[in-house]
Formats: sequence, structure tokens, C-alpha cells
Amino acid sequence: MKLVVETNKPGSYINPDIYGHFSEHLGRGIYEGLYVGENSDIPNTDGIRNDVLSALKEIEVPVLRWPGGCFADEYHWKDGIGPKDQRKKLVNNSWGGVTEDNSFGTHEFMRLCELLGCKAYVNGNLGTGTAQETAEWVEYMTGTGESPITDLRKKNGRKEPWKVDYFAIGNESWGCGGHMRPGYYADLYRHYATFVRNYDPKNPIKKICVGPGTEDTKWTEVVLDACYEDTLRSEHGFMDYITIHHYVVPGTWEEKGSATTYSDELWYKSLKKATYMERIINKNKVVLNKFDPEEKIALCVDEWGGWYDVEPGTNPGFLYQQNTIRDALIAGVTMDIFNRHSDRVKMACIAQMVNVLQSVVLTDGPDMVKTPTFYVFKQYKHHQGANYLPTTLVNNPTEGSDEWQIPVISASSSVKDNIVTLTMSNASMDKEEVVEIDLSSDKDYKVLEASIVTAENIRDFNDFRSEEKVTEKKFESIKAENGKFIATIPAHSVIMIRFA
Ligand code: AHR
Repeated sequence: MKLVVETNKPGSYINPDIYGHFSEHLGRGIYEGLYVGENSDIPNTDGIRNDVLSALKEIEVPVLRWPGGCFADEYHWKDGIGPKDQRKKLVNNSWGGVTEDNSFGTHEFMRLCELLGCKAYVNGNLGTGTAQETAEWVEYMTGTGESPITDLRKKNGRKEPWKVDYFAIGNESWGCGGHMRPGYYADLYRHYATFVRNYDPKNPIKKICVGPGTEDTKWTEVVLDACYEDTLRSEHGFMDYITIHHYVVPGTWEEKGSATTYSDELWYKSLKKATYMERIINKNKVVLNKFDPEEKIALCVDEWGGWYDVEPGTNPGFLYQQNTIRDALIAGVTMDIFNRHSDRVKMACIAQMVNVLQSVVLTDGPDMVKTPTFYVFKQYKHHQGANYLPTTLVNNPTEGSDEWQIPVISASSSVKDNIVTLTMSNASMDKEEVVEIDLSSDKDYKVLEASIVTAENIRDFNDFRSEEKVTEKKFESIKAENGKFIATIPAHSVIMIRFA
């Protein structure tokens, strides 16, 4: 088969935030996974694990969303500031009913973003929070003047305001965020977004509106209809983003299927469900193009990934799952879709960063493993801030039966500083694919570097205290031939090639 990259036609800018992450107060995501506290035996910086920090730095996290998720709509930020021994305890009603001590709050989140060098995406509480709480949280974090709220921040040790890049008005407000109907949410969005003030006009906070969690775009339609005129008129964006949530659930919500012991059929079914992302994006693009042809409002897929049954013996409310080469493929397919739609998709956050759902890193006490998904993020980071290049697949075979048939190869490419990055995956369980790569150019391109993430077995994962089974290795099955490149892509693998 052939793959044509139109290197002479650079297209939309790939916002680095497409490679973003989400971390919620859920299970061992924040506590244990990211944050162990200053007094822990696990080496840490201001309570944040050093091993996890240095792994995350490798993949260049551009943005982090916090504190939820469903949790966000019951989170009262004032309980998470001030001396830690005086913070109110809290029962996490959304996830396992466990009691938290609120030791990870606004200051700790901002410190984490600072250590990661990433943007801060704060998800506000619309479900049980007031407009006043929203206004005061934004002022606490970003206020520049003198007021009781900014004095409180200073008293708690932070003189200068922080930069908050994104602020969302609620989460899944059609579900765990309040079971609202779209018209009701739209009015609340208008109400609460008004109080997300820009204290620093040079760095306006981008406001994020809740979007749909299914393929039905009625929600998008109603909400945009209620808000688009103000958005088009407003100088700093009345609404900057609308969200999409899409999870790959191989079975049903009741029986999702195991993270590691899936059947061959579920392999293809999972990857097919990952491709639905493109349909969902396209449907929402149609609605956006109708209300917002000027493209002021972007799409933000702030929850995506595989969602399986929890690991046997673990708390069902903690959503802890292993991560195999199937997840690497899901990540590759999904991130190729984001690149292709980078004209409208300007942010995406994998759910979730550590120890929850499709994580890049898992921890067990003092131990940590990098998952197959981690290595795919490492490969795809080269697309951050590049320009998308039209990428066409010719004679791409399909595999899988009936409804679950999928194109075997997924690919996307981009250019930055004259370096072309091509990412590709082969979804076949057992067949390699020979791909002729045409860079549509007279330029004498050479392979600068190339890597592969694959495994011996389609159910392989990286376990604690043992050698990694799925990792990033040098990819050598590529050769130049008559101005083209011939690459042999092994079964179930993700490839990254950089040409200069
Ligand atoms: O990521 C886990 C949960 O999935 C989030 O809290 C919620 O927004 C979604 O339903």
C-alpha cells in the first residue's frame, strides 16, 4: 500500500495542547500517583513524586486539567487552601466514597503545573458551587488588585497571581454534573462565564463550555445557539472551547471487558470504537461551522481513552486498569485523528494521567511503570506546535469481521522547522504491512530518527518490578528507494519517523 504526505501543503497548526492530560481526585490518580506529601519516604518535590515528574517531563505535557471530572462539581476550592492540618476533610461521593484530607488543592496543583512547565486548566464547579465561588476562585488564582481574596492568597504564601489558561463551567452537566437539559445549562453557562473575569487582559482566561458525551449533537446545537452571538461580539471570548468526551468501552458499560485478557474480537472492536472519535468530531464540526464560521470556538476533547473493568481485587470506584499494546494503538489512532482535525480541535486531555483509566504512568507504592500509552505520547510529541500535512493512504486493507472491520493503517504527519514527522500504526493482530511512503517532494529527504512501539503478544503490558515488555525502540525497517521510502510495519505496532 501507499502513503502520500503532501509536504508542500502545510495546513493547520497543531496546538500542542492536543497532547494534554487530565487528572482528577479519583482513586490513586492524585493521591499516591502524583502527590505523596512532603513527608513521604518516596522522593518528592513539595510533595510531588520525583519519579512521576521526571517521566512526565519526557513526554512534554502541554496542559493539565484538574480537579475533575465528576469530582469537580462537588469541589469547594476554599476547603483546599491554607495550612494543611486545618483543611476540611471531604468525602469523594463520585469515586469510592473515600475520605480525602484536601492536602492537594489549588496551590499544589499550580505547583505541579509549574514543575511540569505546563498550562493550567481548572474545571469549575457548576453542579453544587455558586457563581460567587467561581468568581472568587478565579480572583484568588489570578487577581492582581488588593482585596480580601487576593490577601488570602498572599497569606497562604503566594504573592503573585498565577496564570490560569483555561477555566471550564462544569463537567458533563448532562450527567454527573447535574443532569441538566441543554437549554438550562446554556443559561447557566452564560451566567457563570460572566464571572470568570480577566484580571490580566494580556492573558485572558479561555472559557470552556460543556459539550456532548455521545454522538448526538443536539446539546452542541442548543448551547451554541444560546451563546454564539455573544461569542462573536466579545473581545476576549465569551466561549472559547466546547468539549467532547469519548471513551472506548469494548463491551457494555456494565461489562466493559478486561484491560489485559481480551479476545481477538475485542481487539478489533476496541480499535473500531477508537475510530468513532473522527465521526463525533465531524458531527460537531458541522454544528460549529453553522454557528461559528469564523472559528472563534474550538473543540476540546478533554476526556478520551480506553475504559475497561478495574483490575481484579481493586476498588471499583478507583478505575484502576492496566495498559497494553492495545492502548498504544488506541492512542495512535486517536492522536492521528486529532492531528487531522487540528483546524478545530485545539485541545485534548487523555483520561487520565496516572493510575486511572488509560494512564501514561502507573504506580505501586514506591514503584512506577511507564505504560505503552506513555511511549506513544513520547513518539507523538514531535507533532506539538507543528503544521499538519495532508496524509493519504492508498489501498489500505481492512481487518476484523463485520461491524468491527477497521482500516489496518492509521497515519498522520506534520512539519516543523523543516522536519517532517510521520506517525503510523498497524492495527493488524498478526500481519506486517509494507508501506511505500511518498513525501511528494524533490528534496532529498533522509530519515533523521525512527522508533517503534510494539510487543511480542497483543496482550502484553508493562508490570511492576519486571522488565518492560512494551517500550520504544529504534525502528530500522525503512529504506530509501527511487525517491520514496519503503517501510515494513510489524503487526500491532506504532511507528514514528522523522525526515529531514
Ligand atoms: O474520567 C472518569 C470520569 O468519566 C469523569 O469524572 C467524568 O467526567 C466521566 O464520566
